[in-house]
Amino acid sequence: MSSINRRNFLKSSALGTGLLILPSGFHASAQAPSNKLNIALIGSDGRARAHYDSIGTENVVAICDVDEEHLAFAGEVFPKAKRYVDWRECLEHPDLDAVVIVTTDQTHAFIANWAMLRGLHVYCEKPLAISVEEAQVVRKTYMKRKNKLATQVGMQRHAHPNFNRLREIIKDGVVGELQEVSAWGNRQIPKPGYLPDAGKPPKHLHYDLWLGPSPYHPYNPEYFSGRPGANCLQWNMYWDFGCGQIGDMGSHTMDIAWNCIDATVPTAATATGEDYNPDVTPVRMTATMEHPANDWRGAVNVKWYQGGDMPKSPDSMIDLNKIGHGAMFKGSKGYVIADFTKRIIIPIGNEADMTYYQPRKEDELIPAMGHFQKQWINACKTDLKTSCDFKYSADMIEHMLLGLAAYRHGGRIEYDPNKGRVTNSTKANDLLKRPYRDGWSLKG
Ligand SMILES: NC(=O)c1ccc[n+]([C@@H]2O[C@H](COP(=O)([O-])OP(=O)(O)OC[C@H]3O[C@@H](n4cnc5c(N)ncnc54)[C@H](O)[C@@H]3O)[C@@H](O)[C@H]2O)c1
Repeated sequence: MSSINRRNFLKSSALGTGLLILPSGFHASAQAPSNKLNIALIGSDGRARAHYDSIGTENVVAICDVDEEHLAFAGEVFPKAKRYVDWRECLEHPDLDAVVIVTTDQTHAFIANWAMLRGLHVYCEKPLAISVEEAQVVRKTYMKRKNKLATQVGMQRHAHPNFNRLREIIKDGVVGELQEVSAWGNRQIPKPGYLPDAGKPPKHLHYDLWLGPSPYHPYNPEYFSGRPGANCLQWNMYWDFGCGQIGDMGSHTMDIAWNCIDATVPTAATATGEDYNPDVTPVRMTATMEHPANDWRGAVNVKWYQGGDMPKSPDSMIDLNKIGHGAMFKGSKGYVIADFTKRIIIPIGNEADMTYYQPRKEDELIPAMGHFQKQWINACKTDLKTSCDFKYSADMIEHMLLGLAAYRHGGRIEYDPNKGRVTNSTKANDLLKRPYRDGWSLKG
């Protein structure tokens, strides 16, 4: 980024103008200077720019980036922060309260887990984990400390009022008995395999730290050639760096459905898709996760479609292909189709006269959550309550990753959620983990 662009960015950011949005219910005492959080921002550029305003009200005491040019950029925004290139050293910065993680996906579960083990509140960009084992480990650490720590995964679309409205109407029976849930995303970024060796990385990039726990792959500048905030699309489809669309748009889109169904971890998964590529996650895939009944609904299959695979439309009047990222709830009386901000209710059949459904009164609506990142900052200082904490989010990504494991396995997997194991195939069980380089452990 040129220095002129950088100046423009700083000028136009709310931080520069002093414009900061506080959620309703934000405690006045939490705004006292003495009550500011000491925050470390790990991964300081790219998507991190979307966090500058919300953490700018706090003490950003440490910033960390494997790219020293990115660190210098963030250093202009947070001149008082100490700079680090290795997140393990950054987590030892004295008197930290909280961390915001905006690094590559292969490091999320590591940094999140290490941070919680040090008693730190954590905001982690999506996806929280890229293997089932990582989701299990992070959730376990969180559950032991949930009375002390506030956590949030970066599924900020959750703040759209549509999320609450959908939860209300599905739970209140607008489709009758809930029978099946689908979510889909049409993003397609096909790649043949890992990129070829392109020589030495530039001096400002600590490439070995960028690889972090993942197996070695030679440097290639294409992994770093995306625009800020979208560079993840250069690396998140490779098995050792991400989990493809499951973790990318899948984290946002499945959240539309997940927020409505009170599911935890599935008991079985099946998947089909394009041929398996050992380097790259599939573009096209359909995964079905089987969830047991809970106290308000029967057992449901939750389906994830990506890369061109789509659920069948309930009626020829409706072209689901016009909804790039959406969700559909099928019930005994009809359907609800939704994207992030809108919903369509479709009663189907002669008996679907809507008399079985009573819209809520205004005072019965689920309250708005306010600003998504601020909800976490506020929670760190008050009641620790967030909408996408590490229980909700680890369950959701574990469910998605079990679908991906079923795709790799090429057959149905049966899963014991309590033991966290595949019970019908040792080979499939091995797919719940991913390989790490020597010297890297999730528990540090
Ligand atoms: N919530 C959303 O809507 C949203 C949008 C975009 C990206 N994201 C997520 O944000 C994350 C970053 O995406 P991006 O496009 O900014 O990627 P990026 O490749 O630009 O990385 C972000 C920053 O982290 C630094 N970095 C990478 N690995 C690091 C490490 N191990 N330690 C310290 N710094 C490291 C990079 O140098 C860069 O400055 C991804 O996990 C992505 O899924 C979320």
